Amino acid sequence: MNKLHTAIESVIKEQPKVNKNYWRLNYHVSTPAYWMNDPNGFSFFNGEYHLFYQHHPYSPEWGPMFWGHVKSKNLVHWEHMPIALAPTDEYDQDGCFSGGGIEKDGSMYVMYTGNTWTGDDHDKDLLQVQCLAVSNDGIHFTKFKENPVIAEAPTGDVHPYHIRDPKVWKQGNDYYCVLGSRTMDHHGQVLLYRSSDLLHWEFISVMAKSDGDLGYMWECPDVFRLEGHDVLMMSPQGVKPKGDLYHNLHQAGYVLGELDYHTGVLSHGDFHLLDYGFDFYAPQTMEDPKGRRIMIAWMAMWESHMPEQEYNWAGAMTIPRQLEWMDGEIYSKPVQELKELRGNVVRLEHVTVKEKKVIPEVIGDCYELEVTIDAKSAEQFGVKVRVSEKEETVISYSRLEGKVILDRERSGKGPKGIRKAPVQLKENLLHLRVFVDHSSVEVFINEGEKVMSARVYPSENSTGISFFSDEEISIVSLQKWDLKKCIHPLSDNFA
Ligand code: FRU
Repeated sequence: MNKLHTAIESVIKEQPKVNKNYWRLNYHVSTPAYWMNDPNGFSFFNGEYHLFYQHHPYSPEWGPMFWGHVKSKNLVHWEHMPIALAPTDEYDQDGCFSGGGIEKDGSMYVMYTGNTWTGDDHDKDLLQVQCLAVSNDGIHFTKFKENPVIAEAPTGDVHPYHIRDPKVWKQGNDYYCVLGSRTMDHHGQVLLYRSSDLLHWEFISVMAKSDGDLGYMWECPDVFRLEGHDVLMMSPQGVKPKGDLYHNLHQAGYVLGELDYHTGVLSHGDFHLLDYGFDFYAPQTMEDPKGRRIMIAWMAMWESHMPEQEYNWAGAMTIPRQLEWMDGEIYSKPVQELKELRGNVVRLEHVTVKEKKVIPEVIGDCYELEVTIDAKSAEQFGVKVRVSEKEETVISYSRLEGKVILDRERSGKGPKGIRKAPVQLKENLLHLRVFVDHSSVEVFINEGEKVMSARVYPSENSTGISFFSDEEISIVSLQKWDLKKCIHPLSDNFA
């Protein structure tokens, strides 16, 4: 039996046991079983959205990487597909690492990094090359015999081995790709390449690099145009904490500017985070046929404690978010298709809260909660979700700090801590859309101006929702919808 089939059998066999775990997610993509990290090859092909992911199909830990695969007609109902890529060749023997996907001449191409360990020190003893595979049906892939298509790092101030995560796009008649990289003395940077056929690549330039404060390596770059601006999204490793920012092990964000396709240089402004929570890394985007720029990220963080590993799975994706340019920043909003998941609804208006308010009919562990709060003269107020006597996940606003605070100190099992996002009230109002699933919370603040995502691991009976404030506030409107399950298992037919 070949390596792909053995891997598929491994996850199919484990899937029923994994699905008994309460923390499995109802409307977020995760693996049928075992480990996942970055989204890969996010693209549209033959009328469907395809999302691949870094996958280790034999244990809930990172290991030699395969590409797992899900597809969807509407970004909401996802179907698990057979594993798409396995590390079977000399050039990718220790892993098919991250990369992008693109449609060309009626076929789907994926470009990825082939990884080889050349010794025991995984930081120094490695060889990374860029590879291409093609599929006519979007399910079965053939690797090119010409692989690797980029066999070595360009000369210049480019580290020879840490070069990975190709993301491809088309501009005019040419294809371009960016690679995550670092300088010889370990500053993150991004390399730009051009090709006419996806097979032959010419290095153009270092497109952007850290000014010294933005980490030792930039992983998973992505470049796209958004309402007249060029955006470089990347995941810098090793950025030091600064005030309330950058407290996760690694960051994921963007710079906005203008890309000169001849020189290959991006002139750009400051780095901004794409998510201010705990669990958000390696985001990848695609432009869909409706012209929307859609982003999905790994809702986890390297080296974070993941209690679901005890149940033989690890990692999940965020919900798909639509990116929009607004006043010099990028807003992220849940894609509107997610409204299809809405079931039972509770609607309330003009509810006064002083100190504490529990609304008995507003409960759950899989829902969307939309609230507009008039802060009146309160200094500190907010909402608690996944509440029981012992547990709570707290989303609060501090007027003094001008920040929304996400607190998972008492969320249940798993890592703890608080994260803060700078937010100004608008006409003294705070608008929140909170997506809760069995082991996650995603908070969209003021129509996507800021987002905070977290994995949380509460017990099944922590279903309460309550409001609190130091002075009187008014819930101007509240809507809560139970959300339906929409992830379909990996079928036995694929074994
Ligand atoms: C980012 C990353 C990528 C790499 C992949 C390996 O999370 O480190 O740079 O390709 O994960 O799984």
